[in-house]
Amino acid sequence: MTARTCLVTGASRGLGAAVAEELLIAGHRVVGTWCSAPGRLDALAVAYPDTCAAVRMDQRQGASVSEAMAKARERFGDVEVLVNNAAIADERPFEDLDDDAWLTMLDTNLVGPVRLARACVPAMRAARWGRIVNVSSIGGQWGGLRQVHYAASKAALINFTRSLAKLYASDGVVPIALAPGLFETDMIAAELASAAGKAKLAAIPAGRSGRPQELGQLVVSLVGPAGDYLAGQTINANGGMYFQT
Ligand SMILES: NC(=O)c1ccc[n+]([C@@H]2O[C@H](COP(=O)([O-])OP(=O)(O)OC[C@H]3O[C@@H](n4cnc5c(N)ncnc54)[C@H](OP(=O)(O)O)[C@@H]3O)[C@@H](O)[C@H]2O)c1
Repeated sequence: MTARTCLVTGASRGLGAAVAEELLIAGHRVVGTWCSAPGRLDALAVAYPDTCAAVRMDQRQGASVSEAMAKARERFGDVEVLVNNAAIADERPFEDLDDDAWLTMLDTNLVGPVRLARACVPAMRAARWGRIVNVSSIGGQWGGLRQVHYAASKAALINFTRSLAKLYASDGVVPIALAPGLFETDMIAAELASAAGKAKLAAIPAGRSGRPQELGQLVVSLVGPAGDYLAGQTINANGGMYFQT
């Protein structure tokens, strides 16, 4: 295993914290970003003082992204693995979503990851090695009922991943999209408490929701040689949910 410098966005909680932790357990160097509070990153930085750093970043702001990139580089050198995990959700009927709701969603969930990828690509190309893991969603494949703007942002991220693959796979940079189904985190707590959410959970062929640790271990495998030939792919981590209608 070659130890890599990884930037995991939204690593304060949920899937991002689990991805950061699994990368650290595997021996990689991790800069985890938080936006409103460091959350689980505090404990990870204590547990892995030589390989973990926590940095504040709001991906809606280009200056904040540049600052976080500079701090990551200063601590561990160029970012070799970017995990674009941070995102927001916003459950509302389509007709209640005004322009501001759409622009906030697209700025956070699409333009944010674009800002980060754009900042990481030059060093990855120069090194002729890199991974860009964009965390999309099954909602980006299925469409959404109460999160139409979220689903559209996640569909765009899958398409963005394919474009990055066409542009940079020949330089050794492997962009991969992940499309999780239901993983129990803060983001889906409200959904899981609803009747529709409970029905969705009950219909998962695997018979359960995903464990954040499972997604973390998947990312660890993608950072290794198993990821070398996966440019532009979308990996469906959903317990068979994708095949339900
Ligand atoms: N959970 C699921 O079932 C599921 C399913 C499909 C896809 N996903 C995707 O998986 C990823 C992680 O989801 P999750 O469930 O772990 O979400 P979560 O628990 O709500 O965590 C979201 C993370 O994103 C960060 N964040 C929010 N706004 C940000 C901004 N403007 N700039 C930078 N960071 C920001 C948060 O930071 P702070 O806490 O510091 O604010 C937090 O660390 C997301 O891309 C989500 O769409 C999740």
